[in-house]
Amino acid sequence: MRIAVVGSGYVGLVTGACFADLGHEVVLVDNDEQKLSALRDGEVPIHERFLPELLARHRGQRIKFSGDLQGAVRDSAAVFIAVGTPPTETGDADLSYVESVAREISGAVDSYKVVVEKSTVPVYTSQWVRTVIMRNGADPASFDVASNPEFLREGTAVSDFLFPDRIVVGAESDRCAQVLREIYAPLTSGAYYAQPDAIPRPDRAQIPPRLIVTSTKSAELIKHASNAFLAMKISFINAVASVCESVGADVQQVCEGIGTDSRIGPRFLNPGIGYGGSCFPKDLMAFRAVAKECGYDFRLLDEVIRINEEQRHRFLRKVRGVLWTLRGKRLGVLGLAFKGGTDDIRESPAILLVQELLREGCRISAYDPAAMERAKEVLNSNVEYTLDAYEAASGADALLVLTEWEEFAALDLARLRKLLKYPIVIDGRNLYDPAVMAAHGFSYHSVGRPEAQANDLPAGARRPGKTEHS
Ligand SMILES: NC(=O)c1ccc[n+]([C@@H]2O[C@H](COP(=O)([O-])OP(=O)(O)OC[C@H]3O[C@@H](n4cnc5c(N)ncnc54)[C@H](O)[C@@H]3O)[C@@H](O)[C@H]2O)c1
Repeated sequence: MRIAVVGSGYVGLVTGACFADLGHEVVLVDNDEQKLSALRDGEVPIHERFLPELLARHRGQRIKFSGDLQGAVRDSAAVFIAVGTPPTETGDADLSYVESVAREISGAVDSYKVVVEKSTVPVYTSQWVRTVIMRNGADPASFDVASNPEFLREGTAVSDFLFPDRIVVGAESDRCAQVLREIYAPLTSGAYYAQPDAIPRPDRAQIPPRLIVTSTKSAELIKHASNAFLAMKISFINAVASVCESVGADVQQVCEGIGTDSRIGPRFLNPGIGYGGSCFPKDLMAFRAVAKECGYDFRLLDEVIRINEEQRHRFLRKVRGVLWTLRGKRLGVLGLAFKGGTDDIRESPAILLVQELLREGCRISAYDPAAMERAKEVLNSNVEYTLDAYEAASGADALLVLTEWEEFAALDLARLRKLLKYPIVIDGRNLYDPAVMAAHGFSYHSVGRPEAQANDLPAGARRPGKTEHS
């Protein structure tokens, strides 16, 4: 099928590359000329596993890049809108990019088209998109608007797209739903997975995936409700972690105990410094705002957001509790991205914490495997960026772990201990086993677990009185 994808960011680029791998002819549209020319030159503007391979495989063949939205729409049977939906000052989703794309689409509807919302949008958006396309002159019988929310996670976006838990299609007519079924048929029939050059199957993937057809309103709500539920799971376990700190229990043990209940499940029970990224914070606010507008005061979401913010303040208090004064201290920081596997720093708790530490007069030497270039654009010059984790630790008063990159969990602990000025690790992602850290001579502080002190630390070197939760 010929498909236009409007917006070549994290979602649009991955969607376009994956559709091409499923055999479709894709035009990726963007209004950022610089981005388009970089893409045409073979650059890959985001850090995503398998994306460079897919773009190299299909660039100039099944994938074309264009700034001509209307031309792309005329050439396509389906048009996916994947532009940003950032928050406004009041927390609602800013749908002006979606509206402007809908307006432009209108002038190019010359035969039956399915216009698909891929961006995360509040309930009723598909009705508005339909209204805008009609208001600008398109024949109502010549197009349908569908909702096909995207559930990919940055860092594993390509695998998530090609091996989804489910595909949700919100459509108001059979004809429209059928177009979406055809687009995803290589996945739902299993044909894609039999291809010798298919992207490797991740461990947990159930294939073939189910395609769930709903109304457009339900599909829009499925996306907001999914993100709200996942954020709630993170805030829930962070709240439990705080109780664990108060009573000296171990939140990892608690996670194992509750996560083995099949009704709860172990995933997303990861205590830490809170969620971030371009989706959860904005989608929760947008869901809360649209619920309110529709007459429901979703206060549970307020609490999820409050716990998430408090989690960063708790971590800062922990750093102060361990290091006493902060002015002039040199801190090694591992991780700047909002989570492991991505270069995205939007709403990254790691960045917010580094900014706060800089305000308090700390000097920071930071390392992130992918996000340092982006971090340089938002952090001030008091940050030194290093070539690896060991250089970040070298001579530091303490090491802070702020992003859960897999490579951080595999560091040479003996080497790390030798490099640090003081053997103190404050881990916001619970990457290490406290007993192993103590055995390697560290004073180790994590989230929701008792602190571990180096077995060989002289009693006088332990910090006085207060526990980290007080
Ligand atoms: N990033 C994620 O992990 C993720 C996951 C699921 C859903 N989403 C949702 O997908 C949507 C897109 O997110 P993203 O992270 O890809 O955003 P992004 O900012 O990375 O990309 C948006 C792209 O749209 C382009 N654009 C904006 N207006 C345009 C226009 N009028 N014409 C053509 N191009 C235009 C921008 O130049 C940019 O390249 C959002 O609604 C987001 O909530 C994101």
